[in-house]
Formats: sequence, C-alpha cells, structure tokens
Amino acid sequence: MDPALVAVLRCPVCSNQLELTDRTARCPQGHAYDLAKQGYLNLLPSASNGIEGDSAAMVGARTVFLGSGHYAPIRDALILAAELAADDVVAEVGAGTGYYLAGVLGLAPERRGIALDVSKYAARRAAKVDPRIASVVCDAWKELPLLDDSVQLLLNVFAPRNAAEMARVLAPDGRLLVVTPNQDHLVQLVDVLGLVSVDAEKERRLQESLAGEFERVGSELVEEVMRLDRSAVEQLVLMTPSARHLNYRELLQRIAVLPEPAIVTLSVTLSTWRPR
Ligand SMILES: C[S@@+](CC[C@H](N)C(=O)[O-])C[C@H]1O[C@@H](n2cnc3c(N)ncnc32)[C@H](O)[C@@H]1O
Ligand SMILES: [Zn+2]
Repeated sequence: MDPALVAVLRCPVCSNQLELTDRTARCPQGHAYDLAKQGYLNLLPSASNGIEGDSAAMVGARTVFLGSGHYAPIRDALILAAELAADDVVAEVGAGTGYYLAGVLGLAPERRGIALDVSKYAARRAAKVDPRIASVVCDAWKELPLLDDSVQLLLNVFAPRNAAEMARVLAPDGRLLVVTPNQDHLVQLVDVLGLVSVDAEKERRLQESLAGEFERVGSELVEEVMRLDRSAVEQLVLMTPSARHLNYRELLQRIAVLPEPAIVTLSVTLSTWRPR
C-alpha cells in the first residue's frame, strides 16, 4: 500500500493522521493497524464488528458480472464526468470490487484512489485491482477514515450515502459523483426473478439525503439495452441484495425460462454534486 495514501487516512479511535511503517499504519497516539496479508487495511472500530457488507459470494458474482463489461456505460460516464487533474486523490464509498474507481483513475500514474467498503471480501478484491488504490475496511454510516478536505473526488455507486462525512472529507472545490438506479433499471427481471425493485421515492430520497451538505450541479441519464445470457443474469442477481432472500434452485428455474439472450434495460442517473 502506498504510504502517501495512508497519510490521507485518519485513526478511527483518535482521528489523528496515520503513517505507514513496514506493514503497520500508526497514529501519533500509538494506535496501530496491521495491513492484512491480502493487502487491505481494516479501520473498522471494534464497536462496528458484526455489520454486514457484501458476502464472498456476492463479491464473486460482482467481479464476474462487471468483468463482462455490461456496466461499462456507467463506468464510462463516470470517467467523463470526473474531470480529474493528474495527481488527484479519489475515494469511492462502498467501492465493492473497485471497478469504477480503477476506471476513473484512468492512465495517469500519479492519480491515486482509496476504496472504502465494510466488506472484507470486497476489500480483498479492491486491493488487487490496481496498485494505485489503497483498500480500506470501514463503516461508512459511522465515519469515513479520511482526513478533512483530503480528497478531490468522491464516487458513490449504488452505495450508502453519509452526506455529513462525505462533505467533511471532500476538498472545498471537490466533486461528488453519485450513481442511483432509475425505476426502469433491470425492469425485465424484477417480477420474473423476484428482485427488489427500485422504490419510486428514490429521487426524492437522494435529494433529501444530500441537499443539506451538497448542491447538485449536474445530472445525466445513462441508459443501455443489455443482452444477457443466462449466466450473466445469474451473476447479476447474485451480486444484488436480492441474493440474500432468494432460493438458489428456484432462481435457476426462473432464469431457465427467460429468453436467451434476455433483453434487459440498464437505466441509472449519474448526478454531480459540490459541497455547499
Ligand atoms: C451494491 S454494492 C456496490 C459496490 C460498487 N460500488 C459497485 O457498484 O460495484 C454496495 C457496496 O456497499 C458496501 N456497504 C454496505 N454497507 C456499507 C457500510 N456501512 N459502509 C461501507 N460500505 C458498505 C457493500 O459491502 C457493497 O460492496
Ligand atoms: Zn489514534
């Protein structure tokens, strides 16, 4: 892990800056956090233990599905909206496998990223995806383990939004990019497969959750028609929260009656926000 990125992190106990020596991040007060052998740093306060992020199976399915490129339009829209300088630091909240973060870092060797996720399975993946990324386990609902004003860009893609914390860590001239699903997103699969549908109030909830700390400066519809074979549909379902309450055999039976390829709508909104 890049020591310069660890210097952007703060101690979850005392909020002082961390410093990496050998494979341990330490604050001046002596709190110490060892790098896991899989390359990520666990900065979850012990009070948060037990909180559930994505499981190993969900992260595995997400890796396969995103690797097949069906969500590349989302990644490409983020890359275009990011408008980064060559040496900016980008953090992704609820980063999962780090797919979008790695895309946004592009080819600039000096650009660096911090992948934040509560799931250690996700953190393991994100630690491997790109050497410019530091992968950190934390609970975004509690706090982000980043110093004030320390990042130029925040990404939040289908992830928990803690507005106060995101505003605290973002530089005053920084930007927040948020991706949320629209009502049409995956609509062909929702009923047939029993997926959790997008609630009609999503847009209002997005506005409410961020408006106190951020001002919206842009909004863009990202839509695509996906042609998914049965295995892609299976991975797509297994990477979502629906995976937790579906019976696997029943899911396979339902997938078996879908046409192949299944024509499935991708429909999300990418919104850009600046701190107030
Ligand atoms: C729907 S996934 C999106 C992952 C990634 N942004 C993507 O689109 O591929 C939501 C992610 O948020 C993480 N997550 C859930 N609760 C969290 C929390 N309290 N703090 C940090 N991450 C959390 C999950 O582990 C999961 O990786
Ligand atoms: Zn400390």
